[in-house]
Amino acid sequence: MSCKVIKVGVVGAGTVGSGTIETLIKRADILKKRCGVRIELAAVAELDAAKAIAAGASKDIIVDDYKKVTENPEIDIVAELIGGTGLAGAIVESALSNGKAVVTANKALLSEKGRPLFALAREKKVPLAFEAAVGGGIPCMLSIREGLNCNSYQSLLGILNGTCNYILTQMTQKGVAYETCLKEAQELGFAEADPTTDVGGFDTGHKLALLSALAFDSWVDFDKMHIEGIDKVDLDDVKFAEKLGYTIKLLAVARPDGDGLFLSVHPALLPNSHTLAGIHGSLNAVSLFGDIVQESVLVGRGAGKFPTASAVIADITQVARMLAFSPEMPSWTPEPEPVYKLLPMSDYTSRYYLRFVVEDETGVLAKITGALGDNNVSIASVNQGENPIGKNAAIMVITHKAKEGDIQKALSAIGGMSFTRQAPVLLRIEE
Ligand SMILES: NC(=O)c1ccc[n+]([C@@H]2O[C@H](COP(=O)([O-])OP(=O)(O)OC[C@H]3O[C@@H](n4cnc5c(N)ncnc54)[C@H](OP(=O)(O)O)[C@@H]3O)[C@@H](O)[C@H]2O)c1
Repeated sequence: MSCKVIKVGVVGAGTVGSGTIETLIKRADILKKRCGVRIELAAVAELDAAKAIAAGASKDIIVDDYKKVTENPEIDIVAELIGGTGLAGAIVESALSNGKAVVTANKALLSEKGRPLFALAREKKVPLAFEAAVGGGIPCMLSIREGLNCNSYQSLLGILNGTCNYILTQMTQKGVAYETCLKEAQELGFAEADPTTDVGGFDTGHKLALLSALAFDSWVDFDKMHIEGIDKVDLDDVKFAEKLGYTIKLLAVARPDGDGLFLSVHPALLPNSHTLAGIHGSLNAVSLFGDIVQESVLVGRGAGKFPTASAVIADITQVARMLAFSPEMPSWTPEPEPVYKLLPMSDYTSRYYLRFVVEDETGVLAKITGALGDNNVSIASVNQGENPIGKNAAIMVITHKAKEGDIQKALSAIGGMSFTRQAPVLLRIEE
């Protein structure tokens, strides 16, 4: 039986591009059977042709200029897989301008410069798909958009960066300091030579911006989000948290509150019974709490050649089916106006873990608890570290639910007291 043919051009045959090329070739028959469309790899743009050849592309489809793909009238879908926010943007723009559907794994590009690209996709009535940009092989976009589409979400929590999760897991399980774990992760290839984007929380922020645009119909500019990384997570806090029954994870957090939305990336304590507390190593996970479905958790590889290629191909096949069978079907683009307004973290309410390093003298505890009480912060438990930090005492406080603005006022007062030896540590406790 004859079958429609959809032609794909891949730009970039690096880690994800080569996995995509290899899998498209290897799985051509099964993809045809499963989608009812024949997906043909018709062009690969790559500066180093050897990379595309090694992935299985035939020499006659390899070009060195992306425009030979994005302007090629034969091509239906362009997969942008070079990364970065400069040239990649020009490639996506060129493809969309030429009426081609685009598939990309590029979270930095979409979260930082996505608005005009989505506007162009809307104008040209072509899809701009990005499943691979968040959670690698985990189908989180598809789940939000289709599998869970009747839900109003009460929370979204994600472990979205494998490098950070690997480092925090090593700190927890081996009791080794952050710097040592980072160095080891770099040696093993889990962390970049310049790890700032990962450990600073920015990569997680890029992904949170995209997830929340889908789940909460609210496009928030990446640079307005609250972002903290793991680079300040102290081994002492990992150990104290463990003793108290918690695990520290870097979380992407989205929580609606009335007509507002908190969006934040921060290291947080999770009770050990929490599903995400058991996500170790380089695994990623997304926990969605929908009002109809209740909790739904997706776990898997957040990055890597083939897991990410799996998501790129999922997008390619979905778009191919749409182009072949229902080209009028509208594709997702962000709402022009966000449904929720972004709320300041000073209004965030949660339980908190606080650690104070203080001179070991009488009356200190009373002054700390007094300052917290003066700022409407109620205490659930107080613990003193068995092993002092240097010559000083460590006091850990777990609060009841409190407003972050009140906590900050209390910390600022305590930080200025004469017995304080280090800036107080604040970590949120997520449920
Ligand atoms: N790696 C992952 O696990 C992963 C996971 C999820 C998402 N992503 C995203 O996927 C995208 C690609 O990442 P990657 O890790 O595959 O990057 P990569 O390994 O650096 O691959 C990029 C490729 O694009 C090529 N390239 C650069 N400029 C080009 C041009 N003008 N024309 C054609 N090819 C060009 C590069 O060639 P040269 O090296 O010769 O310059 C390289 O082969 C990024 O947006 C990234 O954020 C990656």
